[in-house]
Amino acid sequence: MPLTGTLVDTQGRVVRDLRISVTDRCNLRCVYCMPAEGMPWLPKEELLTFEELTRFARVCLALGVTGIRLTGGEPTVRADLPKLVRMLADLAPGLDLSITTNGLKLAAMSEALRDAGLTRVNVSLDTLDRGRFLQIARRDRFHEVIAGLEAARRAGFRPIKVNAVLMRGFNEDEVVPLARWARGEGYELRFIEWMPLDFQHAWSRERLVPASEILARLGEALPLEPARVEDPGAPASLYRYRDGSGRVGVIASVTRPFCGHCDRIRLTADGQIRTCLFALKEYDFRRALRGGASDQEIAGLLAAAVWRKEPGHLVNNPAFVQPARGMSAIGG
Ligand code: 5AD
Ligand code: SF4
Repeated sequence: MPLTGTLVDTQGRVVRDLRISVTDRCNLRCVYCMPAEGMPWLPKEELLTFEELTRFARVCLALGVTGIRLTGGEPTVRADLPKLVRMLADLAPGLDLSITTNGLKLAAMSEALRDAGLTRVNVSLDTLDRGRFLQIARRDRFHEVIAGLEAARRAGFRPIKVNAVLMRGFNEDEVVPLARWARGEGYELRFIEWMPLDFQHAWSRERLVPASEILARLGEALPLEPARVEDPGAPASLYRYRDGSGRVGVIASVTRPFCGHCDRIRLTADGQIRTCLFALKEYDFRRALRGGASDQEIAGLLAAAVWRKEPGHLVNNPAFVQPARGMSAIGG
């Protein structure tokens, strides 16, 4: 029997976007994400294989998912990533297949990823200063990210988005320089509020740079106006520069939550479905995939999980409890 139907929850939201974390490992150690040392990695045998990932994705596409984003950790440290991209791209012509990466490996991998069928890239970069990069990412690899961005551009990826997480005391003074730089390079910049998803639970509201402040800093130097909403499910509020081309976005997950139109689910590298970044519950699909479940059964389990998708996160509620796993194990 062919799979049909959509993935809908009690709030009427429909899932269209599947985010797959392909590894929890990373070649950087950003302060807002991981401790300097001592990250416990998932054992290899717990990672879903490319075949398992592709099968799961196929079921999701049959249930109305239209976009797949590969995340990590750092997705490019998973061996043979272009091979997985090819397997996923072959599932559906025209599939929106994207990656969120720290960019370190893009200089070497952009063409292979493009040839395999990747359609878009988001690169994380929080500063334009090499010394600052070393402070934030704890590795002296700023120039490799810049080279990676340039390689992605040469390979023809458009748009190229840049994600910048802001933290007070680290880089809040770079709002305008980052925006000017990205605009000049033709990259679409998104500022991200720091979320309580760091492995070491060091998040604090004092260090968070709120959207209101980001927009005020931007607006003083570069007048903005709201841009037309193209994708209502997208997390970024988008603005156009009044004096010409280009856009900039703010992902205000904490101070302006957008849960009401969230269309995402996340598959962790070890095969757990999370229906919210901040979910306290995970649904074990590795067991189903490895235990002989049929596609119909997997679809049924997924529909049941999505039905219970959290109406919204509780970050601003005194009862908030940070999930045990951090961003690098969940996927961005
Ligand atoms: N809060 C906000 N953004 C984060 N990222 C990683 N950890 C956090 C956090 N705690 C960003 C990365 C990447 C994207 C996946 O999320 O920099 O751009
Ligand atoms: Fe790695 Fe991304 Fe976490 Fe930085 S934020 S340590 S690049 S997973």
